[in-house]
Amino acid sequence: MNAPQMQGLNLNAPSHVKNAKLLAWVADMAALSKPDRIQWCDGSDAEYQRMCAELVSSGTFIKLNETKRPNSFLARSDPSDVARVEDRTFICSVKKENAGPTNNWVDPKDMRALLQTGQADGTSALFDGCMKGRTLYVVPFSMGPLGSPIAHIGVELTDSAYAAVNMKLMTRMGKPVLDVLGVDGDFVPCMHTVGAPLQPGQVDVKWPSNKTKYIVHYPETREIWSYGSGYGGNALLGKKCFALRIASIMGQAAAGGPKGSPGWLAEHMLILGVTSPAGKKYHVAAAFPSACGKTNFAMLVPPAGFEGWKVTTIGDDIAWIKPGVDGRLYAINPEAGYFGVAPGTNTLTNPNCMASLDRDVIYTNVALTDDGDVWWESMSAPPAHAIDWQGKDWTPEIAKQTGAKAAHPNSRFTVAATNNPAIDSAWDDPAGVPIDAFIFGGRRTTTVPLVTEARNWDEGVYMAATMGSETTAAIVGQEGVVRRDPFAMLPFTGYNMSDYFQHWLEMGEKLATTGATLPRFFTTNWFRKGEDGQFVWPGYGENMRVLKWMIDRIEGKAQGNEHAFGVSPTFEEINWQGLNFTPEQFATVSDIDRDAWLKELELHAALFEQLSYNLPQALRDTKARIEQRLAAA
Ligand code: GTP
Ligand code: SPV
Ligand code: MN
Repeated sequence: MNAPQMQGLNLNAPSHVKNAKLLAWVADMAALSKPDRIQWCDGSDAEYQRMCAELVSSGTFIKLNETKRPNSFLARSDPSDVARVEDRTFICSVKKENAGPTNNWVDPKDMRALLQTGQADGTSALFDGCMKGRTLYVVPFSMGPLGSPIAHIGVELTDSAYAAVNMKLMTRMGKPVLDVLGVDGDFVPCMHTVGAPLQPGQVDVKWPSNKTKYIVHYPETREIWSYGSGYGGNALLGKKCFALRIASIMGQAAAGGPKGSPGWLAEHMLILGVTSPAGKKYHVAAAFPSACGKTNFAMLVPPAGFEGWKVTTIGDDIAWIKPGVDGRLYAINPEAGYFGVAPGTNTLTNPNCMASLDRDVIYTNVALTDDGDVWWESMSAPPAHAIDWQGKDWTPEIAKQTGAKAAHPNSRFTVAATNNPAIDSAWDDPAGVPIDAFIFGGRRTTTVPLVTEARNWDEGVYMAATMGSETTAAIVGQEGVVRRDPFAMLPFTGYNMSDYFQHWLEMGEKLATTGATLPRFFTTNWFRKGEDGQFVWPGYGENMRVLKWMIDRIEGKAQGNEHAFGVSPTFEEINWQGLNFTPEQFATVSDIDRDAWLKELELHAALFEQLSYNLPQALRDTKARIEQRLAAA
C-alpha cells in the first residue's frame, strides 16, 4: 500500500505521489477536517474546465457570454467576504517580539489549540470537521518557475473549488510540481477552509464562508492556516501568506551564517522592463500599497511623446529579489497570474490590461450586463441595466439615488500572466532580471511630491520605511485613512518590522562591498488632489514621464532640484510632449509644504516610537539629518 488509508475515507493519492511528508500531512489534515472526499489536482486544462463547469452547476460561477468573453466566469462572493482581513491575520511566532508591534500575535500553543487540537475546556478545534460534506482539494503549486533554484513549493489543501481554479491561473499548479517535489522534497503546508461544513442533505450556498476568520502563519514551522474566507489573499495562500509573509521570513533567515550571505528579499512589488528607443533596457521594481497602482504601472502604455519606448511586465504584485554573483539584485515574479482590481480599468487608462481580460478570466464581484458580459465603474459608459455584485438590479438611476456600486470597489479579475500582450520575454526566466531602481509610492492627497530620489541607500530605506498611504478597499475596514505602510509591506512582513529594516540596510552594505552599482531609490505619489478634490496628476500611462526622468537620473542626464528629502525634477526636466500640463499644475503635485512636512515628521517619530525595539540607529540618524536640512531650508 503506498498511501495511508483513513477510516472510511480514501486518501485517493495518485500512484505517482511518493512524497512521504505530503502523504502523511494530507492524511492528518483529512482526519482533522473530515471531508467527504479528496481530489488531487493535476493542474491540467481539462481539470480546470471540469471544475469550472462544476462551479457553474453549483451556482458559484456564472458562465459569461462565450462570444463576448470566451472561457470566462463571474463569481459573486458573500457580501461579508470581499477583501483581505488584516485584523484577523496573525503571525504566531514562538516569541512575541519576533512578530513585532505591527503584526497581530497569539502564542502558537494557544492558536493551535483554537484551530487544530481543541481547547482545555473541551471546546473543539475550528478545523475539526470543518470540511464535512465537502471535497478536500490537494493543490500543489510552485512559486517561481518549476524546478528553478529560486522557486519554492507549497501545497494548499482547500475545500474551495473556487480557490483551486484561481490557484491554477495564479501559480504553476499540479502534477509537474509533485514530480519536482519527489520523494523527499520540502514544501510549505497551506491549510485552507471556508469554515462551512455541510450537514447531510444540507443545500450549499453559492459562496460558503464563516463570519469567524483566521489567517494564521507559524514562522518557525513555516505553516499557513486560513479559516473562514474564500476571498483573494485570504484564500489563495500562495500569494500574500506564502510569497510575502512566509517568504520574507525565509529571505531574512537566509542572511548571515558563516559565509555572511545577505539573504534575499520578498517584496510587495511589481517588476517592469523599460526599453528606450535606442534599445537600452532597464528594470524597475515598485512597491505601492494594495490598490495603489502596481498592476497599472506594470502594464503601462507609453503616451504620445514617447514613441519608440516600450514597457514590459515581469510581475504585477510580488517580487523575490536575490543578489547575484556580480553584486547586482535580480528579481523574479513568483506568481504566474494577476489578481487585479477591476474598477478604474479601461481602454484609456490601461489598454494592455483590458486586452489581457478579453478571454480566460475569472471575475469576482463585478457587475453582469444583460448580454452576459461584465461591467465595472469607469470601464465604459454605464449600461442601462445590469445585475450588481450582490445579484441585485442596478441602473445608473439606482446608483444616483442610493449610491449603489455595480461592482464592488475591490472587485477583481484573475487571469494568467500569459494573457498580457505586454509580457516581458524574461518574465519566467529563473535567473530573474537585474534591478536598476526601486520605487516606493503611496496614495497621498497632500504633502508628498510626485517624485523624489533618495541620495543613497540608507536614505532610500528611510523613505520606504516611513511611507504613508491612505487605506483602500483592498482591506476590510475604513477607507481613506492615512497610515504608515513601510515598504508597502505593513500587512505582509512576516517578522519584526525593525528587523526587516535592518535586513534591507545590511543588504545595501553587503552589495556595496562588491563594488556593483546599487539600484536607485525613488518615492512617488500619483494621487495629490487639487482644491476641487480631483487628482491633479493624470496618472496611468502618463506616469511614463516620471519613469523617464528616473532613467535620466540613472544615466546622469537630469540634475534635479535637491531639497531636504532628496532630489526632485524641475519642470523643464520632464518630457511634456503630448501633454498639456502647466508649471502651476506641476507645482501643485510637487511643492513641498514645510509645515505639512513638520507634521509628517511627527508621524515618522510616532512610527519609530512604535518600532523602537531593534529600530536600526541608521534610520534615527537619517531622520536627524533630514530634520537639520529642513530647519536650515
Ligand atoms: P493590488 O492588486 O491591491 O495590490 O493593487 P495595485 O497596487 O496593483 O493597484 P492597481 O493598479 O490595480 O490600481 C488600483 C486602483 O488605482 C485602480 O482603481 C486604478 O484604476 C487606480 N490607479 C492605478 N494607477 C493610477 C494612477 O496612476 N492614477 C490614479 N489616479 N489612479 C490610479
Ligand atoms: C492586495 O491586497 O495587495 C492584493 C489583493 O494584491 S489580495 O490578493 O487579496 O491580497
Ligand atoms: Mn497587492
